[in-house]
Amino acid sequence: MDFIGNVDVKSLATEFGTPLYVYDRQKIRNNYFKLFHAFSKYFNNFKIHFSVKSNSNVHILKEFKELGCGVDCSSPFELLLVLKAGFDPTDIIYTGNYESDEDFALISRYNIKINFDDITSYERFKKYRQPEFVSFRVNPGIGKGGFEGITTGGADAKFGVPYELLPQAYRKAKDDGARYFGVHIMTGSNILEPIYFAEVVEKLFRIVGRMFQELKIKPEYIDIGGGFGIPYTDDENELDIDKTAEVIFEVYQEYCNKFGFGEPQLKIEPGRYLIGNAGYLISKVTGIKKGYKKFVGIDAGMNTLIRPALYGAIHRIKVYGKREATNLVQICGQICENSDILLKNVPFPDIQVGDICIIEDVGAYGFSMASNYNSRPLPVELLVDNGKVKLIRRRQTFEDYIHLMEVD
Ligand SMILES: Cc1ncc(COP(=O)(O)O)c(C=O)c1O
Repeated sequence: MDFIGNVDVKSLATEFGTPLYVYDRQKIRNNYFKLFHAFSKYFNNFKIHFSVKSNSNVHILKEFKELGCGVDCSSPFELLLVLKAGFDPTDIIYTGNYESDEDFALISRYNIKINFDDITSYERFKKYRQPEFVSFRVNPGIGKGGFEGITTGGADAKFGVPYELLPQAYRKAKDDGARYFGVHIMTGSNILEPIYFAEVVEKLFRIVGRMFQELKIKPEYIDIGGGFGIPYTDDENELDIDKTAEVIFEVYQEYCNKFGFGEPQLKIEPGRYLIGNAGYLISKVTGIKKGYKKFVGIDAGMNTLIRPALYGAIHRIKVYGKREATNLVQICGQICENSDILLKNVPFPDIQVGDICIIEDVGAYGFSMASNYNSRPLPVELLVDNGKVKLIRRRQTFEDYIHLMEVD
């Protein structure tokens, strides 16, 4: 793991400093092709929308555009970013929640398809214009995610229209003059079992099938969200994506036939699956302490990668040029919080200040969740492609940081 995209990690750390996010362009492309081929084996009519929240660097978005991918946005800035990256409104969908009037004032200026999170969201949007196309996100009353924080369906989830209220929502939209319809579901993220996706799709059809028939709605699309997981540890297996597409298709076909829906477009909104394993966080060992336990301090912490502190997520960490793990350590960041510990009691090589660490699988929900906490600057981002290196975000300087506070 001393090279990423055929580029020596140490040379990157020397040239650009640490902490440093590095994305491997070939891995991103391979992930996309793998997913695309799996679904194209079964579906004639499907579209992949990259989930912008997982990684919103405009250069990364341009990569997905070049691949023919659409995008899913969740905020006005994300929408402006994808427009900046050159996406056509027909390739953009929007799935947010609790949007303000100001949010909708901006979003409504663009002719994009929106998955409304609630009837009240739809009502707020309508103040700006009556959409011709309406889709609601369904909360089916169940959910499952890699952690509680990424479980997005069920009674405790803040997302989606409770399924009992769905007929009311679509009837209202129809009475208001909407002519085209879709439906959205996503009950959790980082799922590694194919069958779960089929179960969710079946649940969705059971909720909307008869209801759409009664309302004489033929959905234009059925959007099953993201959630396609990746292994973060050696103990986890990869999601079998071919099987996933196959089992989704079996249910999809059966129920579309049963309810006479024809062939609505299947939409998926993956983030993690497309870019998670293509991202690495390069960090330097800054201090080693023999406290009650052995602590290895590095210059990447919850400000650069919050997933461990937020969810208890695990990311594998390797050391440049060192393989053999000799002792148990705690690896922590520089933030003044005790939750800023990336790994606890892990076997680690014999380490020295200045060694380079490589944190794996951080392409999704890595930089996009980074912050300036403790007034630490946002890190650099690089895109590497078979020996070539492109700077896609420079390091934040103190001038950048103070600029917004100089309000006079
Ligand atoms: C509406 C929606 N779509 C797509 C995604 C992407 O999920 P994932 O990265 O698990 O594929 C999310 C993540 O939270 C989401 O909320």
